[in-house]
Amino acid sequence: RSPVVAVVGATGAVGREMIECLHRRKFPLRSLRLLASGRSAGQVLKYGDQPVVIEALGPDTIDGIDIALFSAGGSVSKQYAPLMAERGTIVVDNSSAFRMHDDVPLVVPEINSQAIAQHRGIIANPNCVAILSITPLWPIHQRNPIRRLILSTYQAASGAGAAAMEELRESTRAYLAGERYEPKVLPHPYAFNVFSHNARVDPTTGYNDEEAKVMQEARKIFGDATMRITATCVRVPVLRAHCVSVNFECEERITPEEVRSIVASAPGVRLVDDAQNNYYPMPNDASGRDELLVGRIRQDVSDPSNRSISMFIAGDQLLKGAALNAVQIAEKLVG
Ligand code: A2P
Repeated sequence: RSPVVAVVGATGAVGREMIECLHRRKFPLRSLRLLASGRSAGQVLKYGDQPVVIEALGPDTIDGIDIALFSAGGSVSKQYAPLMAERGTIVVDNSSAFRMHDDVPLVVPEINSQAIAQHRGIIANPNCVAILSITPLWPIHQRNPIRRLILSTYQAASGAGAAAMEELRESTRAYLAGERYEPKVLPHPYAFNVFSHNARVDPTTGYNDEEAKVMQEARKIFGDATMRITATCVRVPVLRAHCVSVNFECEERITPEEVRSIVASAPGVRLVDDAQNNYYPMPNDASGRDELLVGRIRQDVSDPSNRSISMFIAGDQLLKGAALNAVQIAEKLVG
């Protein structure tokens, strides 16, 4: 029997994409339940052309669900994911609440789908930057292990939710009209600005929580606790696709040609590396696409041993960075 699937946080930026991905990929579901806060209960969203009434998430609405895709924030996940797992639901959780728990698989299907089998009711969907950065790196790492990784991000509004996307639109309109705009969701003016990621900064390490997540999650997914990795995470005024500047050092010598040929055949990845036309990965091209765009692949000349490469990635944060990856995990559960 096909599963009953629920999307928890159905009205959110990621939740809406989850519904879209389930429909577009013809997920074999028996019925779809949409859950959100009491504020949205009774509203209707479309699954294809089928209207589905939103239910308020609560103790009375969590029974009879086989697979639940969660994207309603960490506190909702902490409260409801274990409760639903106890009742036999398999939860695919997009929050960071359980990602680093030893008994929770952290999965990018192109990399470690075998980890799914070890779940005990909850499977975690990784941080968006972790997914976008390491999916193209995995096939390289398998041939020539990556020893050191330096990531610098250019992150879109969508990672902070639907309200942050609206703040970018509104503050840009206000800026162009010469009006004053008080930021409501993000801590700094967003229009025509760039600022350090809005996550909390650890006073001891100096890393913000987004950077710390990316670093520890990449090691967990790669199954390589010793990989040296550092990240700088920044918000840019882009709506929904993130970019990452990636620099990595391998165990053995490596050439841009080798990396290009590995990337060209990597699952879920498209090589966009057209030097002649100066055409490289851009968030505009990545938005709304399942594939990650990878280009600007070049030898890092600061490493005379020729073991280092620089490259640039653009990927839709709401799709491969969140909803699509979660739906791919769910597909593995039923397939
Ligand atoms: P709602 O729209 O009813 O507030 P985003 O990440 O885009 O901000 O979306 C957050 C999602 O999480 C929304 O679907 C939101 O629903 C949902 N949500 C927020 N708080 C709760 C809650 N306490 N219970 C259930 N869903 C919640």
